[in-house]
Amino acid sequence: MRLDRFLSEQTALSRKEAQAAVRAGAVQVDGIIIRKPDSPIFPEKNQVSLRGTPVAYAANHYFLLHKPSGVITATEDKNQKTVLDLLRPEDRLPKLAPCGRLDLDTTGLLLMTDDGQFAHRMLSPKHHVLKYYLAKLRDPLAEDVPQKFLSGISLREGSGEVSCLPAECAGIAPRMAVIALREGKYHQVKRMFAAVGNHVDALLRFQVGNLPLPPDSQPGQYFVISDKEAVEMLRNPAFSSVCAFCKQNYSSYWINNPL
Ligand code: URA
Repeated sequence: MRLDRFLSEQTALSRKEAQAAVRAGAVQVDGIIIRKPDSPIFPEKNQVSLRGTPVAYAANHYFLLHKPSGVITATEDKNQKTVLDLLRPEDRLPKLAPCGRLDLDTTGLLLMTDDGQFAHRMLSPKHHVLKYYLAKLRDPLAEDVPQKFLSGISLREGSGEVSCLPAECAGIAPRMAVIALREGKYHQVKRMFAAVGNHVDALLRFQVGNLPLPPDSQPGQYFVISDKEAVEMLRNPAFSSVCAFCKQNYSSYWINNPL
């Protein structure tokens, strides 16, 4: 791999900035200053440093963000703060993108990665990766709602209707329900509860597959996770155990993080 490409993939430098840094003598490979941006390197073998700081090599990067409310799920926007703006400048890698979308007012787990294949696996409804939400409801959860969601509820869309894939749902506290989705239609949780005459006052995504949002994390905080940890997102645990986890760790979420 070329040295300038390595730097632009592993740091927040653009390709041009990487080339300039190499030409300026700011880059060493195995302790030797290299001034030619197209010099070949072997990322697994060579130690590259930029201005004296070693550049760690990872084929792909995974950041687990606790998305706060009021930040949009995008990489750039003229008017509003984006989830990319929440990362430290050195972590804003060029190909990093949010994996899926949370509404402006939805909080919780958002993966940001430059691994396009992984993102596709996580998001494609074909792979049935479950995304778990905690919904704070205006009204108590009606008894027949879990069965309606499990049967695949229909949502109005334009002049027609679309069916949702089966979704599990259970109440864990008064006016609080956990719901597991295997797809990501626009405002899906809010529209599903609206379709049964209820209303979502607040929404938290607390888990994807087998990877929960760390219960002691704060909105706006993020963590670098390994590819092994990311793969946990592709495994689906039993719904009852996820509900028990949520009840224990997240039922006071909106007391600790008022709307
Ligand atoms: N469903 C919603 O309604 N909003 C989200 O942000 C995610 C799922």
